[in-house]
Amino acid sequence: MRFWLTSPRVKGGPPAGPHGPCLHLAGILCVVGGLATIILFAFPQAVHAASSWPPPLQTAPIWNPGPAWAPVDPKSPEMSLISNTFWAVFIISAVVMAFVVTFMAINIFRFSAKPGAPDPPQVFGNRRVELAWTLIPTAILTLAFGVTVYAIHDINTPPHGAALLDVDAIGHQWWWEFQYPGKGVETANEVHLPVNTVVHFHVKSADVIHSFWVPQLQRQIDANPGQDNAVYAKMTRIGVYSGACYEYCGADHAWMKFRLVVDTAAGFAAWVKQQTRPAVKTQTGLAAYGRTVFLRNTCVSCHAITGTPAGGAVAPNLTHVGSRWAIGAGAAPDTILGLETWIYNPNDYKDGVSMPSFSVLPEKDIKGLAAYLYSLK
Ligand code: CUA
Repeated sequence: MRFWLTSPRVKGGPPAGPHGPCLHLAGILCVVGGLATIILFAFPQAVHAASSWPPPLQTAPIWNPGPAWAPVDPKSPEMSLISNTFWAVFIISAVVMAFVVTFMAINIFRFSAKPGAPDPPQVFGNRRVELAWTLIPTAILTLAFGVTVYAIHDINTPPHGAALLDVDAIGHQWWWEFQYPGKGVETANEVHLPVNTVVHFHVKSADVIHSFWVPQLQRQIDANPGQDNAVYAKMTRIGVYSGACYEYCGADHAWMKFRLVVDTAAGFAAWVKQQTRPAVKTQTGLAAYGRTVFLRNTCVSCHAITGTPAGGAVAPNLTHVGSRWAIGAGAAPDTILGLETWIYNPNDYKDGVSMPSFSVLPEKDIKGLAAYLYSLK
């Protein structure tokens, strides 16, 4: 029996033979494989598309409302100083580079050896030139060093006598917890500040090393476990700014975004008042049902909701979750569908997230949970 499938017309190839049985076998395998592929991939997709549960994943909100290169668009005196230092060193460097390139080009064209020209006069050292090219760069680098040291010292010194607003910024894998000591406010992935107020961020970590950064606010600073790192800043412009973790901290490092909202003093006071209210208890219908689902499930071991028995402290506080810009530190939109799909399987949004999938819950329970959480404004 021969197993050659090669065409007999190929010169020098294997001899022609009765390839009938083998071609039949290959054909059958192709058909079976094709059908299996259709059943395995296309059929569940079609079934999924035809059913309304679970809903498709929702598009996460655009997280970066700031300019593409935010560090050169400062909105605080501290960031302005960093930005000015950058421009000063950049301009000095540009002038030096222009001088060196121009001087080099002139020398290349003017003093290149011509064919047949005699050797140029041999010069051994020139004290004046050597002194100049040692002292001028030394002066330039000393200036850049001085400007940088001044900026570093200045941005790390809180303004004398100014009243400071303390905010704890605590990095977790993978979200940010914000606490306002003395104010009873605890949020996640969203920090609110009053305009023209000096803020003292206490940057900490609950697990690994993260890095806290809002490009228009201040420099980056590491969030180290067991350490309280200080960042002082005064935002001078009302607006919404983007922040994120800037130190690789595990699989979902990229999903550690947060939003900085700078408001008027009155707007900030109103926000604090709203945040310190316990969660509303007046839900009806599906949301009221969702409240009972929340309280009888394991949600309460990780999440806290003020005004309910839920007091977990390892995951974001959900007392006002319905009022936030996103969930999952920017991974999913804060909408009913966003919450439903997140609860169904958070890993679909954020691969590796600590929260387990709740796809085992009945559809009604998940819809109830989403309605309840969304009602927590
Ligand atoms: Cu936290 Cu990167």
